[in-house]
Amino acid sequence: MATVLIENLTKIYPPTATYPHRVQALGGVNMSVTGNVFVAVLGPSGSGKTTLLNIVAGVETPTSGSVRAVHNGVPAQVGYVFQEPRLLPWRTVLNNMLYVQDRKSDRSRREAEFYLTMVGLNEVAHLYPSQLSAGMQQRVGIARAFLVNPDLLLMDEPFSHMDALTGRSLREYLQRVWLHTRKTALFVTHDVSEAVELADRILMLRPGGVVFDDIPIDLPRPRNPDDPAVRAVERDVLRRFDSMEAAVRFGAQAQ
Ligand SMILES: Nc1ncnc2c1ncn2[C@@H]1O[C@H](COP(=O)(O)OP(=O)(O)OP(=O)(O)O)[C@@H](O)[C@H]1O
Ligand SMILES: [Mg+2]
Repeated sequence: MATVLIENLTKIYPPTATYPHRVQALGGVNMSVTGNVFVAVLGPSGSGKTTLLNIVAGVETPTSGSVRAVHNGVPAQVGYVFQEPRLLPWRTVLNNMLYVQDRKSDRSRREAEFYLTMVGLNEVAHLYPSQLSAGMQQRVGIARAFLVNPDLLLMDEPFSHMDALTGRSLREYLQRVWLHTRKTALFVTHDVSEAVELADRILMLRPGGVVFDDIPIDLPRPRNPDDPAVRAVERDVLRRFDSMEAAVRFGAQAQ
């Protein structure tokens, strides 16, 4: 479990040959996340979600401000689930799992099989990625991220390329694995119902990369998207999201 502390974080991309304007991706983000919590970062396209996650992961540098992701006083070990599964096509499912392990011991094999079973894939451990559907490949991506036993799990819209039914079942699998491990998680999405189904807390980002709202989601787990209580919270968050978009539109017109 990790603590993530973000203070006055800004990111400005300088003009490039292909896009001659500077872009403010993050405009002073403050947030703190600690413990066994699942936090969704919810925002429309271009609101800086991926930039934020990449800075937390350390693969992007901030323009100003500070980010600390620590576990027991040392930098947190981070696991990342991408929008696409990013499996190695020449390795079997099991070997894609074991590839991220330092030790190829019987124990790591058993752990890999445990997480594959959690996402319902142990039967296909010997197959190659091209023999799996996109949803199954993403299930491997999820299992692999948990297998490395990260202190902090970062996920960037891992279900956004999936059809609705596949996305629904993937969310169910993710809930199941997360409930087993309760890793500190930052999950980026532009989908309100996904955020409500998965998160303990929703940080809403507005374009320009500013936190617009910070909403606790106090619903029992596991959550069923058809549960009226889940639906009611979803409607409330959707209203807030709409009011943010209206505020952004109004602000844009006023300029
Ligand atoms: N490498 C880059 N160089 C220049 N501008 C960038 C770069 N990466 C992102 N941007 C710009 O920064 C802003 C935020 O982008 P980012 O990808 O973080 O948003 P996002 O919320 O993840 O969007 P999406 O939901 O579409 O994935 C956008 O205006 C984007 O065009
Ligand atoms: Mg993105």
